[in-house]
Amino acid sequence: MLPSSFLTRPDFCFTLPYMTLSNQDIAGQLAASGWGYAEDYFPPDLVRALLGDVNRLRDEAWRPAAVGRGGQASADIRTDRTLWLDGGSAAQVDYLGLMGQLRLDLNRALYLGLFDYECHYALYQAGGFYKKHVDSLHGSRNRVVSCVTYLTTDWQEDDAGHLVLYDGETECARILPRAGTLAFFLSEDVPHEVLPPRRERASIAGWFRCNPSGAGRVDPAG
Ligand code: OGA
Ligand code: MN
Repeated sequence: MLPSSFLTRPDFCFTLPYMTLSNQDIAGQLAASGWGYAEDYFPPDLVRALLGDVNRLRDEAWRPAAVGRGGQASADIRTDRTLWLDGGSAAQVDYLGLMGQLRLDLNRALYLGLFDYECHYALYQAGGFYKKHVDSLHGSRNRVVSCVTYLTTDWQEDDAGHLVLYDGETECARILPRAGTLAFFLSEDVPHEVLPPRRERASIAGWFRCNPSGAGRVDPAG
């Protein structure tokens, strides 16, 4: 047996290499608690390329983000500006490829029937916010799993801008938007909010969706 001092003596301390969550781990966390996050989920080169893409696209027509069914912009509720990804750069293609693999792995593990992934870049300026909300209305079964990918490099605790997840009224997690982190949660079940960052905060917000015709509605495209 090891002496108990083994655990406390600094010369025996070592750091394990950081391992991010596998897609199977993510499925397990979604099944167990409905939410989770994976630090360093994306390769640093890809995160840098995506941030470069955001900067390249700065002059495009970013939209004040919409809220609710009518899609009206509401600066009382959220202040971010968004631009949909369309696969128009190598970075976007690589990113969409990884998210496509995650979609297949979640379907395999959880039989969710996710049939596509839609996502947009989002930029919050310092002081911006997105008040507590859910991403999908109960019963609509359209957006099933929400994912947020953070892109701004060198994000520190002091930069704030946390994603806060709730279980009803109770806070259950406060996630720092560090570059490379993937936050994920069930779209209908997990209320969440974005706290004001102290500097510009770039991310990709996305949703795995299932075909709404499977929920007793007729799919207009089908
Ligand atoms: C959203 C959202 C969270 C975040 O875009 O719906 O909740 O951390 N984003 O950016
Ligand atoms: Mn949201």
